[in-house]
Amino acid sequence: MTEPILVNEPLLNGKEKQYLNECIDDGWISSEGPFVKRFEEEFATRMGRKYGIAVSNGSVALDAAVVALKIGPGDEVILPTFTIISCAAAIVRAGAKPVVVDCDRQTWNMDVSQIEAKITPKTKAIMVVHIYGLPVNMEPVLKLADKYGLHVIEDAAQMHGQTFQGRPCGSFGDISTFSFYPNKHITTGEGGMLLTDDEYLAQRCRSLRNLCFQPSRRFVHEELGWNLRMSNIQAALGVAQLERLDEFIARKRRMGKLYTELLKDVPGLELPVPYTDYAENIYWVYGLVVKDEVPCDADEIMHRLSLKKIGTRPFFWPVHQQPVFQKMGLFEGENYPVSERIAKRGFYIPSGIALTDEQIERVAQEVTAVMQSLT
Ligand SMILES: Cc1ncc(COP(=O)(O)O)c(C=O)c1O
Repeated sequence: MTEPILVNEPLLNGKEKQYLNECIDDGWISSEGPFVKRFEEEFATRMGRKYGIAVSNGSVALDAAVVALKIGPGDEVILPTFTIISCAAAIVRAGAKPVVVDCDRQTWNMDVSQIEAKITPKTKAIMVVHIYGLPVNMEPVLKLADKYGLHVIEDAAQMHGQTFQGRPCGSFGDISTFSFYPNKHITTGEGGMLLTDDEYLAQRCRSLRNLCFQPSRRFVHEELGWNLRMSNIQAALGVAQLERLDEFIARKRRMGKLYTELLKDVPGLELPVPYTDYAENIYWVYGLVVKDEVPCDADEIMHRLSLKKIGTRPFFWPVHQQPVFQKMGLFEGENYPVSERIAKRGFYIPSGIALTDEQIERVAQEVTAVMQSLT
């Protein structure tokens, strides 16, 4: 019987068990344990930052980042429409207004040439989100942030180990955030991190993570926070995974190259861009876009692949088309054609770090067969 190929499977065969056993043996299973601090320090150092604040996932890292920067009612934040709901949700939950730009047709990252026209006196920040394996073109973003005095929130959830012009992704934001969900380059099961070089912001993020308990009067609160703490068990996984980040990135790049080699002549597909002039793709996921001449969208192709037991995921659905935001009266009459197109025509194929070359070959064969039957 043919085994299913999952869309994402992590690799946990380094020191994960050893470190988890240490948690059990020592009894440190809450956020008070030593692995949390160690993971924060080692991760921040790896990304070239001063402070790391470990949290329970990448979505709440964004919530904390927005609130730590005191963005709230009356403020606007510019972000790509082609991203996960967590980005816009953090802005809306803080009472601020998300303002979106379209994405680039080739890299699927925010079209930075559209940002300046969206800046108003209410704009407080640009939230950049690196998408699927290539970073946002940070240079124009940093220039605009400087020119208009805006904060940069950098969502690097998919970008562990990637660089922009040789500088680590995760080192560009006033606050940068990560996710460690099992489909990420390194995982803690569930988990996230905020990074910053600013001591005050670091202290605010730590406080927001921990219910805004006050050091002097613990149970008297000046501000509302959350319990976003990461446990020692999660951090133990994180330390073990971080030891292998370089190896994992090298593997992901080899996987991406193999897929490209096998799929480059398949009709009807647009493949990921291997390079830009500022970065080499790390293929967080291997995304495909179905060309316009193919008479069906990604859903049909994903369905046909599922019959062959190949796991897939659709691309993000654009923020401006989310029913939850439309019901709030946001983005009325706005159109972003590039994002709308790839949302319908884009999907990704198995991309987890545990995928073998043989599995990649089988996926490519099935994708080829489906596409040939359609074109
Ligand atoms: C760009 C981006 N931001 C935020 C998140 C949210 O991370 P989490 O799933 O850890 O909440 C994700 C998750 O995939 C993501 O891709």
